[in-house]
Amino acid sequence: MSERPSVLFVCLGNICRSPLAEAAMRAEAARAGLDIVVDSAGTGHWHVGEPPDRRAQAVAARHGIDISGYRARQVVREDFSRFTHVVALDHDNLARLRALCPPGAPAELSLLLDHVRGRAGEAVADPYYGDAAGFDRTWADVTAGARGLLARLMRGIRAA
Ligand code: 4NP
Repeated sequence: MSERPSVLFVCLGNICRSPLAEAAMRAEAARAGLDIVVDSAGTGHWHVGEPPDRRAQAVAARHGIDISGYRARQVVREDFSRFTHVVALDHDNLARLRALCPPGAPAELSLLLDHVRGRAGEAVADPYYGDAAGFDRTWADVTAGARGLLARLMRGIRAA
């Protein structure tokens, strides 16, 4: 792969799971010294323009990351040509992405946990209607996914 990788994480609202995946990926890429483009979006429109859910901001802050400046946006068709990897947090959103993706668009679509050994095909559970502990589980899942995806991207870059 010679193209610089770019990753878009997608959940439903873009206020809980995908901003946390974006934050985890930015942190892992910075640690690895890898310069990649990272963003997140939602398939739904309800929270467009809003900052992440307070519980998502809190779990990120507990891990030393400030996501208060993130703002929710909705996925657009151009995302499938702007990003090399479009990564869904669960199956419903992957199905929505497949329906939205223009034929022949270059982006590779996957589930985040496909990139974690032994967890392919699993979803990152939606923490929105749950308790604060759910956000700790989300953070653990998105961190594992970000590490696995980053390792794959780095192998691709080295092989170029
Ligand atoms: P997210 O969580 O998809 O991880 O951002 C949700 C946020 C909002 C809603 C559902 C899930 N909602 O129904 O408004």
